[in-house]
Amino acid sequence: MQNCFVNIRIEHDIYLALHHVRLMMDKLSFSKMDKQKVLVAVSELTRNILDHAGANGSFSCECIENQGIRLIIQDSGKGIDNLHQILSGEGTPNRRGLGLGLSGAKRMMDEFTIKTSKEGTTIVCVKWNGK
Ligand SMILES: Nc1ncnc2c1ncn2[C@@H]1O[C@H](COP(=O)(O)OP(=O)(O)O)[C@@H](O)[C@H]1O
Ligand SMILES: [Mg+2]
Repeated sequence: MQNCFVNIRIEHDIYLALHHVRLMMDKLSFSKMDKQKVLVAVSELTRNILDHAGANGSFSCECIENQGIRLIIQDSGKGIDNLHQILSGEGTPNRRGLGLGLSGAKRMMDEFTIKTSKEGTTIVCVKWNGK
């Protein structure tokens, strides 16, 4: 199955990423609910690249042995401060959003890891079909 890679620089790139991941989940026969969850995660994580990482990043998606999908969201922004607090889901309201995107995306996926530093952020997450 075709993997996909999209540079995330403008709003339209988010829609491209959503389109590709939707096609991939259709081929893998993901349930409607699982599809919705993954699309929410893709939308939040790619939007964070535009909102918080200088609109300089990428999205990629690959199929894992016809049983799941792995998403990799990468950027060269300034990194995420107070990650622990953000992931706890307390929310960190700011002038752009509610501060619930990252913790929400984590809850939508089965596996979720974040590496972040002053050089940028990489998020790798997996959704298994039917788990
Ligand atoms: N890719 C990123 N690079 C740098 N900081 C980020 C990134 N993603 C999230 N953040 C930081 O984490 C906070 C919480 O993100 P999120 O939960 O998506 O909420 P929101 O985008 O609504 O602020 C953001 O306000 C921002 O400070
Ligand atoms: Mg956000």
